[in-house]
Amino acid sequence: MSNFEYASAPESKAIANISDSYGLFIGGKFVDPRKGKSFETINPATEEVLSKIGYADKLDIDLAVKSARSAFTKVWSKTPAKERGKYLYRIARILQERAREFAVVETLDNGKPIRESRDTDIPLAAAHFFYHAGWADKLEYAGFGNKPKPVGVVGQIIPWNFPLLMLAWKIAPALAAGNTVVLKPAETTPLTALLFAQVCQQAGLPDGVVNIVTGDGITGAALVNHPDINKIAFTGSTEVGKAIARSISATNKSATLELGGKAANLIFEDAAIDEAVEGIVNGIFFNQGHVCCAGSRLLVQENVADEILEKLKARMSLIRIGDPMDKNTDLGAINSKEQLKRIHEISKSGDAEGANRWSPECKLPSKGYWYPPTIFTGVSQSHRIAREEIFGPVLSVLTFRTPAEGIEKANNTMYGLSAGIWSDKGAKVLWAAKQLKAGVIWSNTFNKFDPASPFGGYKESGWGREGGRHGLSGYLKSDVKASK
Ligand code: NAI
Ligand code: MG
Repeated sequence: MSNFEYASAPESKAIANISDSYGLFIGGKFVDPRKGKSFETINPATEEVLSKIGYADKLDIDLAVKSARSAFTKVWSKTPAKERGKYLYRIARILQERAREFAVVETLDNGKPIRESRDTDIPLAAAHFFYHAGWADKLEYAGFGNKPKPVGVVGQIIPWNFPLLMLAWKIAPALAAGNTVVLKPAETTPLTALLFAQVCQQAGLPDGVVNIVTGDGITGAALVNHPDINKIAFTGSTEVGKAIARSISATNKSATLELGGKAANLIFEDAAIDEAVEGIVNGIFFNQGHVCCAGSRLLVQENVADEILEKLKARMSLIRIGDPMDKNTDLGAINSKEQLKRIHEISKSGDAEGANRWSPECKLPSKGYWYPPTIFTGVSQSHRIAREEIFGPVLSVLTFRTPAEGIEKANNTMYGLSAGIWSDKGAKVLWAAKQLKAGVIWSNTFNKFDPASPFGGYKESGWGREGGRHGLSGYLKSDVKASK
């Protein structure tokens, strides 16, 4: 097929009003960090510095936790549930009104295509606030006992792959349940969280209900270890998740941990092949593969493997990689130099262990961090690229002969976050879904999200669920837990 030439259609940056520097958001105000330290956040597509961000240390964390505690005892725990719901609703509306601005800032700070921040990240973030606004005054009827109580002050630590969306997953249920929060965004993507702090001001949210502290892993650890935190909600690497679990093990703090994944995307011989190919592409190349539930292990039934691979390669040749601000772009920049290094390192182990690498011909921009869409065939289950989370646009392809062998291979992982099943037969889909040990299972689709649907994993993918009624239970003290 000949190449379609696209005229570039860049989104304007004019709407993004990024300040030269930001302080920490504590007690409803932006304040300078006590020690005056800062770090830079850059645009990974251009390596341009976007802003100077305050670096919070132990002293600042203490101030933020005190502010959250005081807001909890004096204001938020006394605010009628119906009023809490109104604040959440107001925040959701403001996110919708300012959606374009948020999408542009998210893309500049993160490197993801504007099409994705515009159509996925920001609308879903607003949807989480709308959904939880509805729950605020109905908690007594949600099956958590007569009078479920908030846990108190919650420390929340989020990653860089879906910055505003992960903030929404954390803050919306916490506030709906009556908690106050101290949230730390990731060091490479703090901007939309700081913009969100302005939204809290705009919505008139009482001071101290939401506090945003920026910094790195040391800042995160200080938050985890603060004695006046009642619960930690974390999304990020399994390694840090385990460290958090260890450090709170001798305390009364509770935790939800949403960690990594190595999802199997299972294509049975009776699947609708063209649709499955779209699903494979969406499963691994959405958001540059920086997705904990990415379909990074493709398992194809052997008799359709050649056809699938041929069609997949043709489809991959059409992926447009480059300027994330261009509305035509499919694959944007890798979020950071460190992440790019990690993707290179694990991919090279694939070459060394004998798998075969393929990427379509594509020109990568000279500035910024880029990785071409890549597949490895001839992968065996023992290869690192079949076991470890690469968190980039790299797909490992394995085959199976019988459905039972497919399931066995799919479950042969230390993770258990998500899985995909592609088959024309409803009975086969239901059978396979029952056998798969994964928290989220998609059938004939992939990477679909909804605030009403609980998300979370088994094994090393973490503890607890986020979203839906199950997600709320993690923010409530109750004798009754949501049924599985
Ligand atoms: P990370 O787990 O280090 O970072 C996630 C968040 O945790 C960031 O806000 C970071 O500042 C904070 N953090 C780091 N160390 C901490 C500590 N000791 N205590 C408390 N908070 C801490 O993830 P990183 O290094 O950015 O990425 C490494 C790998 O982790 C990726 O290649 C990917 O495989 C995986 N990952 C998985 C994510 C997911 O959504 N499940 C998200 C981000 C990374
Ligand atoms: Mg950045």
